[in-house]
Amino acid sequence: MENEYRFNHKHILGLEDLSRTDIEFILNTADSFKEISTRPIKKVPTLRGKTVIHLFFEPSTRTRLSFEIAAKRMSADTFNISASTSSAKKGETLVDTAMNLAAMNPDIIVIRHSSSGSPRLLANHIGASVINAGDGTHEHPSQGLLDLMTVKENKGCIDGLKIAILGDISHSRVAHSDIIGFSKMGAEVCVCGPATMMPVGIAELGATVCGSREEVVEGADVIMALRIQKERQTDPLIPSLREYATFFGVSKKVVELARPDALIMHPGPINRGVEMDPDIADSSRSVILDQVTNGVAVRMALLYLIMGREGNE
Ligand code: CP
Repeated sequence: MENEYRFNHKHILGLEDLSRTDIEFILNTADSFKEISTRPIKKVPTLRGKTVIHLFFEPSTRTRLSFEIAAKRMSADTFNISASTSSAKKGETLVDTAMNLAAMNPDIIVIRHSSSGSPRLLANHIGASVINAGDGTHEHPSQGLLDLMTVKENKGCIDGLKIAILGDISHSRVAHSDIIGFSKMGAEVCVCGPATMMPVGIAELGATVCGSREEVVEGADVIMALRIQKERQTDPLIPSLREYATFFGVSKKVVELARPDALIMHPGPINRGVEMDPDIADSSRSVILDQVTNGVAVRMALLYLIMGREGNE
């Protein structure tokens, strides 16, 4: 007899660790949780008695609030620590901070850090589950999952779609999670950006590198523009923002090359007029705010699934 599928991940560190079946299961679970956020009383008792700590060493509007709303809607107790209020400011190492938090018996630690690999380091040192809320240039798995959910919701399926990703591919953890996630789900992922923002080995993740903005969006089902990650660039990688907008920005003319029903996406925060013209960001094809709405459902699903995994009942 075939074994029934069980989600069995203690940590969510990257989409690289998840199979297509895992991703489909998370998306279906998120879909079933989405309705909770539309109820007059937006709360279910599923995670009552569980403790979730949000440990954010980098700024965040969407991800941090979305994780907190998700945990609170599931009735978990939530606590927030940011770089400016943590003892990291006094020289404490990340592992020491984590071990001290672990001594207070949290169930889940959600971490954002500028250093790639920090969530895995934490996961190796503490007993709690760890969720990566964005680590350096490595991955942003919950963003990748909410992007997948948004495309699936609007297109019906992901298999066979052309996903065009434009911008700062090298420094974007969103790009890395999206390339891995969309490729695993059967889409063709094409990327384009300034040569100084295109990492070597990107094809090994499953992406096709295109030589121009026009080539990458030609016939695309989804246009995803990325933010220029100035905070991760040691030297200026483009001559000017105006030049970037001219060659890599998403304008009305660029969108006309894609399929007539192409979706416009951006993980946020947007630099309007640089990565994308304001009229495109606000157009009827834009699903940028749907991405944010779906973020809560995806994060509710992740919290629920890692708490309910095999051996943790
Ligand atoms: N998409 C995203 O990670 O946004 P924040 O930086 O606001 O969390």
